[in-house]
Amino acid sequence: MVDDDRSQPRRPYTVLSCAVSIDGYLGSAGDERLILSNAADFDRVDGERAASDAVLVGAETVRADDPRLVVRSPARRGARLARGCPSSPTKVTLTSTAHLDPRAAFFTAGSSERLVYCATPCLAAARDQLGAVATLLDGGHPLSLAGVLEDLHRRGVRRLLVEGGGTVLSELLTANLVDELQLVVAPFFVGDPRARRFADEGPYPWGPDHRATLAGVQQIDDVVLLRYAMSPRFAACRQETKP
Ligand SMILES: NC(=O)c1ccc[n+]([C@@H]2O[C@H](COP(=O)([O-])OP(=O)(O)OC[C@H]3O[C@@H](n4cnc5c(N)ncnc54)[C@H](OP(=O)(O)O)[C@@H]3O)[C@@H](O)[C@H]2O)c1
Repeated sequence: MVDDDRSQPRRPYTVLSCAVSIDGYLGSAGDERLILSNAADFDRVDGERAASDAVLVGAETVRADDPRLVVRSPARRGARLARGCPSSPTKVTLTSTAHLDPRAAFFTAGSSERLVYCATPCLAAARDQLGAVATLLDGGHPLSLAGVLEDLHRRGVRRLLVEGGGTVLSELLTANLVDELQLVVAPFFVGDPRARRFADEGPYPWGPDHRATLAGVQQIDDVVLLRYAMSPRFAACRQETKP
């Protein structure tokens, strides 16, 4: 990939993937996980996962949604194994509290490596709680997202898929650490201010005077996928993946 180019940052090509309602919500205010996408789009995301070296979600998504974060398609798992990769990408999460259940599917589903970046003050608690089920890493105090991405790059992660939630997506976007945004819009409204919105307030690099590049629009049954190029690495990556 862009790895040999010294002018490029030493961080993975970072793709954000999420689904929102028409009014921009990532979920509902209730305890139940809100299904925004559809089967065909879940399969597309499975393909994105299969093409990635690691998948990252915030600790609140681990707690709220209990995602498995494994490649579902046997064919895609087989193709990964055939090219010498584990059947599913490395799972990554971030926490400043270490309030994570070792029985969560993040830790128990599949056999891929699990990395938990901890803010320094909670590292000892995390070791007690999660030491048997994950590799615990000191992310600094405060935890540095740029540092996490650099460390993932050092560990061989060249393509990172970030699957939410809103806090992590907003932090990466405002820190200008994103190369591609895949935003799926579901055909309904949530209309509840207690629910989680996609993007928090913050100093986003893209505004009226600096527009992101819309790189693709695709209807997938009843949802639409908007693909935005958020850095020059988007074009470089596309060139390399052309057949
Ligand atoms: N529609 C979609 O595509 C989609 C995808 C994923 C999730 N979601 C929804 O999004 C919601 C969760 O989003 P969220 O914004 O509440 O949470 P989130 O982004 O999943 O996780 C936030 C948590 O991650 C940890 N974290 C994030 N940045 C950190 C940093 N810089 N340093 C240390 N720890 C950090 C903290 O964990 P601690 O609290 O442990 O410190 C923080 O509370 C859920 O409702 C879920 O259903 C929707």
